[in-house]
Amino acid sequence: VNERPRLDAAVLAALRAVAGEAHVIDDPELAASYETDWTRRFSGRASVVVRPGSTAEVAAVLSVCHDAGIPVVPQGGNTGLVGASVPRRGEVVLGLTRLDGLGDIDTVSAQVTAGAGVTIARLQDHATAAGLLYPVDLASRESATVGGTIATNAGGIRVLRYGPTRARLVGIEAVLADGSIVSRMGGLTKDNSGYELAQLFAGSEGTLAIVTAARLQLVRATPHRATALLGVADTEAALAILQRIRHSVTDLDAIEAFYHDGVEMVCRHTSATPPFATPPGCYLLVECAGREDPSERLVNALAECPEVIESAFATDRAQQQQLWRYREAHTESINAEGIPHKLDVTLPLTTLAEFEATVRERVAAAVPGARPILFGHLGDGNLHVNILGPAPDDDRATDVVLRLVASLGGSISAEHGIGIAKAPWLHLTRSEADIAAMRAIKRALDPGGILNPGVIFGHDA
Ligand code: MLT
Ligand code: ZN
Repeated sequence: VNERPRLDAAVLAALRAVAGEAHVIDDPELAASYETDWTRRFSGRASVVVRPGSTAEVAAVLSVCHDAGIPVVPQGGNTGLVGASVPRRGEVVLGLTRLDGLGDIDTVSAQVTAGAGVTIARLQDHATAAGLLYPVDLASRESATVGGTIATNAGGIRVLRYGPTRARLVGIEAVLADGSIVSRMGGLTKDNSGYELAQLFAGSEGTLAIVTAARLQLVRATPHRATALLGVADTEAALAILQRIRHSVTDLDAIEAFYHDGVEMVCRHTSATPPFATPPGCYLLVECAGREDPSERLVNALAECPEVIESAFATDRAQQQQLWRYREAHTESINAEGIPHKLDVTLPLTTLAEFEATVRERVAAAVPGARPILFGHLGDGNLHVNILGPAPDDDRATDVVLRLVASLGGSISAEHGIGIAKAPWLHLTRSEADIAAMRAIKRALDPGGILNPGVIFGHDA
């Protein structure tokens, strides 16, 4: 199982000729970081890791692989959480981090061209230096890349206000399965000249094309922030606050929820101490940002919410980061306690509280001893159900959770994608007709099935 699958010598030579010796990696130590995902739940051997340095090189690699019928797994920062960025069956891993060109910001249109390998943190800093904001923001910002976040249509903490990655896309450059390049990077806000390929590729998880660059829309900077951490009785109370402040507070950026078990875990694995002396049933992190200081408005709006039991406000950056740590350190703290099953689900706000109240006992009944930890983007109806305990290939808890989600009108993925992890359950929340249409698109663009095989539809599909 752990043998490195061998590539035909002529194919290997062709890949070396394209990317250069140094960027075709089969040394086990050097390849290792490309072969295991961030959670350690998914891993496999690549036949080889290829790191092209330009769009033309990506096209040439794809052309070689296409002609030889060799499957390819694209990889950006390898922060994906559904097993879609690491090899499963000896594929070629296409590492895209060398595509890290970042253009000057066009301040008239507030747009920028970024290579697929640019990290989100670098893009954010670049925008900030020009007095603008790249509003897609997520805890993995230092590693996650432009290409990966487009391929997964990444969401993050500010979807409530700015939408997911696809809302930033003005244009795309991508390589198709046969090595041809499609490019529409002119930055036109209005362009109804046929199918919108950028939007088709966003969220396609590397199954339709390899994104090599994008034209991205930035927004006005919001330099003044106000952050509040609240303790409330339960999810229902948190939702009542959400309903009230979403209309009364302009400039609302983020509303995140988490629970005491998660905070305990964060405190165990970081230097944080519990924020409130008596742990509340549910924590709510609320953030506003604007061109003027939004603190007073936020404080006043929350004063009108009888559900608030405890509160801590932060207006300076260091304190705000401390409050965010309780939320953002969930992922790494959970990982430190085991290999989690990560179920990123979304629910209508009308059934979210019922889901939260039911899911823990359902999981415990399905797998005795399993530990579910919940947190997420409450404003988007998006909860991350992380389950510790079941072996990496034990899907009993996953099955129970995803069926519960479907029965309550939700979706089995809000922002992480389907990947390998959830392919067997796609039918729960996408209809037969939906899946048939998606398969038809996949077949048309990748008839040989070489782009990220197994992802979304499963291996036997
Ligand atoms: C988050 O919201 O922190 C990310 O989706 C990562 C995770 O779910 O662990
Ligand atoms: Zn998330």
